[in-house]
Amino acid sequence: MQEAETSRIVSGELSPDDSTLDANLRPRRLGDFIGQQKVKDNLDIGIRAAQKRGEAIDHILLYGPPGLGKTTLAFIIAGEMGVNIKVSSGPAIERPGDLAAILTNLQKGDVLFIDEVHRLSRIVEEILYPAMEDFALDIILGKGPGARSLRLNLPRFTLIGATTRYASMSSPLRDRFGSVHRLDFYDVDSIGAILKRSAEILKLKTDAESIDLIACRARGTPRVANRLLKRIRDYAQVKADGVVNRGVTIEAMDKLEVDELGLDEIDRKVIRTIIQKFDGGPVGLDTIAACISEESDTIEGVYEPYLLQLGFLERTPRGRQATRLAYKHLGIAYKKGPPQGSLW
Ligand SMILES: Nc1ncnc2c1ncn2[C@@H]1O[C@H](COP(=O)(O)OP(=O)(O)O)[C@@H](O)[C@H]1O
Ligand SMILES: [Mg+2]
Repeated sequence: MQEAETSRIVSGELSPDDSTLDANLRPRRLGDFIGQQKVKDNLDIGIRAAQKRGEAIDHILLYGPPGLGKTTLAFIIAGEMGVNIKVSSGPAIERPGDLAAILTNLQKGDVLFIDEVHRLSRIVEEILYPAMEDFALDIILGKGPGARSLRLNLPRFTLIGATTRYASMSSPLRDRFGSVHRLDFYDVDSIGAILKRSAEILKLKTDAESIDLIACRARGTPRVANRLLKRIRDYAQVKADGVVNRGVTIEAMDKLEVDELGLDEIDRKVIRTIIQKFDGGPVGLDTIAACISEESDTIEGVYEPYLLQLGFLERTPRGRQATRLAYKHLGIAYKKGPPQGSLW
């Protein structure tokens, strides 16, 4: 499953292919971070206020679909504050001792970035609460009736948590973040600006029309935009002396089976299944998942957000429903609405 997901060209998830590209293209300062104006404004105020007081910035939670800039922002915040960043993730911190080791290694003002923070286990979370609230680490010595607890003071640090699954976080954990920011899909203009910046860094010749064509297919996701650009660059190098133009862009996208809205074969399969097998729905997520041999979690976290964003799917209390727009996109006649022959 993971395998299939990471090999998708339009997936927002990080793939092994992305790593060097990501490092080059990742903006380092808040001023270079394109779009998400509200989030940027709020962070900017938080950073400047903390700097004025000479304190660590409040704990920050960043959430939203993969590939929208959560990790990038965490690094930018640390950079703007002029502090070190230590990076870990929910699944990597298995035991309370792992977290204790990380926490006791922090210096005053440091940023601790925990990616996929919703995947921390309950017992690890319990250690995190006093650390976030009181900058203290409670250590239990011994077992049974003779056990004693010892409180260690920690330096004031900033926890930045990132998650694609805000709803799966425990509410005590959510409540301990002083500032919470949701990243949304980017509009086509912002993605266009990101593509232009990336093309410059890659020293790639493009034109406005190609940038537009790619921007429309990038699913509002900077990571997807950069990945498409990279694939088109390869294609252009082989077929067109390295120049990216309209023809090259369209040809490359067709080869990759990414349609004009950025949907790939699996997205189309999700919609087609709902329309053809379930008469447009509503149908439960688990049923859809079983039909196309994917996991419900993957559909919910990866495919669905963009389909909802496009207005192709609706969530109803009885399950997912395909909209008129989805029928239109797949070129299937829309048959819903009041039954034929009804009084209305
Ligand atoms: N606002 C932005 N401006 C420019 N590039 C961006 C922006 N947001 C993300 N990117 C690019 O997209 C890539 C993925 O972003 P990342 O922070 O890793 O996403 P996330 O952690 O949310 O999955 C980064 O390497 C960066 O190149
Ligand atoms: Mg990330």
